[in-house]
Formats: sequence, structure tokens, C-alpha cells
Amino acid sequence: MIVCAQAGNVNTGAFDPLEAIADACERRGAWLHVDGAFGLWALASPSRAHLARGIQRADSIATDAHKWLNVPYDCGITMTRHRTSHRAAMTLAAAYIETTDAERDPHDYVPEESRRGRAVTVYAALASFGRQGLRELVDRCCGHAQRMAALVSAHPHVRVLNDVVLNQALIRIEPPGRDADAATRAVIDAVQQVGECWLSGTTWHGMAAIRVSVSNWSTTDTDIERSAAAILRAIESVTAS
Ligand SMILES: Cc1ncc(COP(=O)(O)O)c(C=O)c1O
Repeated sequence: MIVCAQAGNVNTGAFDPLEAIADACERRGAWLHVDGAFGLWALASPSRAHLARGIQRADSIATDAHKWLNVPYDCGITMTRHRTSHRAAMTLAAAYIETTDAERDPHDYVPEESRRGRAVTVYAALASFGRQGLRELVDRCCGHAQRMAALVSAHPHVRVLNDVVLNQALIRIEPPGRDADAATRAVIDAVQQVGECWLSGTTWHGMAAIRVSVSNWSTTDTDIERSAAAILRAIESVTAS
């Protein structure tokens, strides 16, 4: 049995209770995989690390450097404590491939035979941020998401659907007597047309929502304020029509 838990839901940034899930997996002998595409990086922030508590008990973890580390696609990373299973799942033998028992052959642990040196960019980003820089990046982006939620929720027709625990804010426009799904999608279109910022939409628990996900190192407080103002203007224009 494989159990797949999330650290940092794609819509809400929410974390599954990893300690409790790891306990259950231990009891049942299940393999625990954690999708930590965003959430693994919470460990870099002392004020957010508790969200991912228990992640170290996973059998395998996936994360992305091409999200929060801001390196180019496609720098996905997986980690597993089961080296033999990992190698058995990935290795590929052919008569023309030279192998040696003396050294670890990297191609035994990845899906491709040929690939570029993705680890170089990931290493360079980590080395350049350092522990402190990574912590600041994570805290800054999460702070931006919280600020965005606070700025737009001052509007009477706005509902923030999630607890903003990470870098995601889910915003829904609910004008009284109007179709909230249509109004939310119209606000997304209006903001995209103005071009002050770019927002994508999502559907969460059957509700249309604006998905704000802040992960760029260069986003500033001013960017958030301008983007929130653009959303608020779009709400006014959509609800006035
Ligand atoms: C939580 C989560 N898991 C998985 C993915 C997919 O990542 P990738 O496109 O690198 O495969 C995403 C992408 O947004 C994500 O946010």
C-alpha cells in the first residue's frame, strides 16, 4: 500500500497531518510518499517548519526546485530512504552501457539515460541563497500571500477561502444576489486584461476561486499592493456592470 500525503496543497497551501499519517502507515506497513512541491521548503522557516512536522518519517518525498528556488524547469527532486527499491525502479541495463560496481552510477537512480546537469543550477541557487536567504525567501513569499489576503478581504464582496498558512491565497468574489463563480471568473479576466498582475483561476470544493501563489524572489510589497488594488478595481467594474 502506498499513501500519498501533501505538504502544501496546490490550492490552499494546507498540510496533511504528517505525524498522524506516518503513525498509521507504520501500523499498516504502508509506504508513505509526501508531495512537498512547495511545502518541503517550509522547513527553511523556523516559524513555519512545524507545518511539515513528520515529513522526515516519509519513505519518499518529492519537491520542486523550479518553484520556490526559482531555477528553470525542470528541476524536480525526489528523495527516498529505500535505495534498493529506488535503484530497482529506475535502473536500465543494456549491453552497450558500461557499469561498475565500484561507483554509484547516477543513471541508475533517474528515469532518463541522458540528461543535463540540473543539479548544478539547484546547487548554485542553494549556495547563493544560503540558509538565511532561503528562510527569508520563504517567509517573504508567505508574508506576501497573507498581505494580499488581508488587502482584498477588506472588500465586502470578497471571501478568502483558505487559512493562508503558506504562499497561497484563495480568493472568491461573492457579490450578493449574483453568481459568485461567474463574478470570480470575470474578475480574473478583467485583471488579466489590465495586465497589472497575472492571476490564475481554480476550482476548490466546487467553487471558482482566484489562486494567488507567490513564489518569485523578486516580488515586492509594492507589487502586492498594486496587484491587490488591481483586483479591487476589477471587482468594482465587474459588480457595476
Ligand atoms: C503541490 C504540487 N504538487 C505537484 C505539482 C506538479 O509539479 P511538476 O509540474 O513539477 O511535476 C505542483 C505544481 O504546481 C504542485 O504545486
